[in-house]
Amino acid sequence: MAGDPDLGRGGRLPVILDVDTGIDDALALFYACASPEIDLLAVTCVAGNVPLEAVVANTLAVLEVAGRGDVPVHAGADRPLVKPLTTTEETHGPEGIGYATRPSGATVAARGPAATAIVDIARRRPGEVHLVTLGPMTNLALALDLEPRLPSLLRRWTFMGGAFRGPGNTTPTSEWNIHVDPDAAKACLAAWSVALAADASVQPPIGMGLDVTEQARLTPEAVAGLAKLADASAADANDLVGDPASAMRPTGSVGANGLVRFVVDALRFYFEFHATYDGFYGAFIHDPFVVAATIEPGLIETRPVFVDVETGPGLAHAMTIADWRDITGRPPNVDVAVACDAAAFLDRLVERVGGLAARGTPSDLRAPG
Ligand code: BDR
Ligand code: CA
Repeated sequence: MAGDPDLGRGGRLPVILDVDTGIDDALALFYACASPEIDLLAVTCVAGNVPLEAVVANTLAVLEVAGRGDVPVHAGADRPLVKPLTTTEETHGPEGIGYATRPSGATVAARGPAATAIVDIARRRPGEVHLVTLGPMTNLALALDLEPRLPSLLRRWTFMGGAFRGPGNTTPTSEWNIHVDPDAAKACLAAWSVALAADASVQPPIGMGLDVTEQARLTPEAVAGLAKLADASAADANDLVGDPASAMRPTGSVGANGLVRFVVDALRFYFEFHATYDGFYGAFIHDPFVVAATIEPGLIETRPVFVDVETGPGLAHAMTIADWRDITGRPPNVDVAVACDAAAFLDRLVERVGGLAARGTPSDLRAPG
C-alpha cells in the first residue's frame, strides 16, 4: 500500500468536498480542516442523509465549529435525478448531526448552485482540483451536464460509495450513497469511461465502498483519546468510556471544548444506531476515511475494474457491479479500494481532530447547547 500524495502547488492539494452532512460527513469536514495537506476550496451540499436545507445548515455549523467559516459552502441538488428523495434520520438524527446542536450565528451559504461551483472552480484551475464526493452523486452528475469535459478538468475524483465485494448497508446489494441516487452514480461512472477512452491524461476515480470503510470502526476509547489530546482531563475523558447507558456524555472539560462537545454529541447518536443495528457500541466512519486516503493514498490498496450501477427495479437496484473477471471486456473505469490500513486511519483521525480541537475555536466561548 503505497503511493505519492496527489499534491498540488505549494504541497497542498486543492480540494472540493461534496457532502450530505451527516455525522460521518461532519467528521470528514473536521478531518479536512485539520489536515495541512488540504487547501479546502469549497464545500458543496447535496440532499442525502437529511434534506438539503439541513445538510447546508449542518455543513456551515461544522465549518464554524472548526474555525473555518471562511470556506464557501454551496447548496446543490435537493433531490436525486430520477427517484424521490429518501433520507435517513434514523441513522444520523433528526437534523443529521445526532444529539449535537448547531452554534448560533453560523455563516450563510455562498451564492451559486453546487454544480456550477464545481464547474467554475475546475475551469479556473484545470488539472489541479481533487473532487471528493461523500454523498449521493447528484451534484457531480449535474456538473457533468454543464461541463462534459469535467473529468479532464479535474485532477481526480474520489468517492465514498458502493459495496464491491460484500453486502450493502441499505438493501442486501446496495450502499446508501448509491441507493439514494443510482442514476447519478451510473451517469458519473459512464462519463469517466468516455473520458478515460478519449483523454490519456484522465485518471480513473478512486472508489471506496463498504468493503474498506466498514473496517474503520470508531470506539468510545478512541473518542476519549481525542478528548485528551484536546486538553480534556483524563478523568472527564475516561467518563466517555464504559456502560453505553452513561458513556459518551460530554461533561466537564470535555464539554467545555466546542469541537469535542460537537463530536461527542453527534457520535453518541451514531454509536446508539450501530449498537441497535450492527451489534457494537461504536460506529463505522466512512467519510473521513475517504478524505484521509485522498491525501495519504498508502492507507488503501486499489484495483482497476469496470464498474456499472443497476438502476432498474428489483433485488439488485442500486447495486455497484464490478467486473472483477473482465467478463464484459469493458476497460476499467474505477480504481476500487480492496484493502486498507484502518488502524492507521483511526490513529490519524484521533491525532488530527484532537489537535484541531486543542487549537480552540470560537464555539468554545458559547454555552453548551
Ligand atoms: C454513506 O452513507 C451515509 O449515511 C454516510 O454519510 C456515508 O457517506 C455510507 O454508506
Ligand atoms: Ca455521507
